[in-house]
Amino acid sequence: MKKVLITGGAGFIGSHLGDFLLKKGYHLTAIDNLSWGKKEFISHNLTNPRFKFIKADLLNYKDLLNVLDSQIDTVFHLAANSDIMRGAIDPSIDFKNTTQATFNILEVMRKKGIKKIFYTSGSGVYGDIGKKKIPENYGPLLPISMYGATKLSAEAMISSFVNLYDFQAWMIRPANIIGSRATHGVIYDFINRLKKDPSKLDILGNGKQNKSYLYITDVINAIDLIWMRDKSRISIYNVASDSTITVNQIARMVLKEMCLKQVKINHSMGDRGWKGDVPIISLTNSKLSSIGWKYQYSSKQAVRKTVQSLLIN
Ligand SMILES: NC(=O)c1ccc[n+]([C@@H]2O[C@H](COP(=O)([O-])OP(=O)(O)OC[C@H]3O[C@@H](n4cnc5c(N)ncnc54)[C@H](O)[C@@H]3O)[C@@H](O)[C@H]2O)c1
Repeated sequence: MKKVLITGGAGFIGSHLGDFLLKKGYHLTAIDNLSWGKKEFISHNLTNPRFKFIKADLLNYKDLLNVLDSQIDTVFHLAANSDIMRGAIDPSIDFKNTTQATFNILEVMRKKGIKKIFYTSGSGVYGDIGKKKIPENYGPLLPISMYGATKLSAEAMISSFVNLYDFQAWMIRPANIIGSRATHGVIYDFINRLKKDPSKLDILGNGKQNKSYLYITDVINAIDLIWMRDKSRISIYNVASDSTITVNQIARMVLKEMCLKQVKINHSMGDRGWKGDVPIISLTNSKLSSIGWKYQYSSKQAVRKTVQSLLIN
């Protein structure tokens, strides 16, 4: 069975992807600096002889060179700063952990003769387009956050490695991904605020932000399908369901699941949570559907399942 590697392998999506790939019989190495990732997300795999965890930072090029095995078939590159709001406060965070980190992994892959990369980009590359449905070939791409800008820079470098060094690349631009082991995001945030003080809930922005939320299993299924079925040298896919949900609807669902009544809801001014937040985004999914992808959960169902699983843990 093939050897594969996940960067960001102890994170939310990376740990679920790891569980999936191990179940399919692959030999898996997971790299993570544990800045956001947690050992507990992968601890159940530590006794599996086909699993290896390496605590390493993608910014440390020499360490990467030492730990990457040239027998690896595909690198699933997930490591990044996934906290968009933090990146708005300090732009160097995204530059280092997305642009520089992606360059480092590409360079080490090149040196070791590893040529296949599966990259989790983000819908932030599209910028603030409003209600219009966005297909993969939309342009010009004008991101409004460092998160989006550095994701775009990573896509561009990957594209050049495909051309210059005969790499093969699959890239996805997912909607908001949610589920168990989520360590940030609106649902996680609401639950934690309410646990601390159940009398009030502060919502960033007017609560009308309207986005698509996808359950983790639907994303893992998309990654597997794309990796298995798309044989082109380079491909890009949006990954989103057709449904959306507003932040106010999410807040009501969290309150209901936590059985909280008479909670004072405060909104901050403006149509978005923070500068760099894209308040309304709608992605097409026809390209992904054309290779056989069907999602199981609507945005509403995904949010409910996530609230329930985060409340149990
Ligand atoms: N969660 C979403 O809604 C969503 C949507 C679109 C794209 N993505 C992308 O998917 C990927 C995974 O996201 P996630 O939600 O699982 O986030 P996450 O923060 O749980 O996972 C990222 C992991 O990368 C690790 N990491 C960060 N910088 C590193 C570095 N320099 N060296 C080594 N490890 C490092 C972190 O510790 C973390 O475990 C990210 O690239 C993210 O941008 C996520």
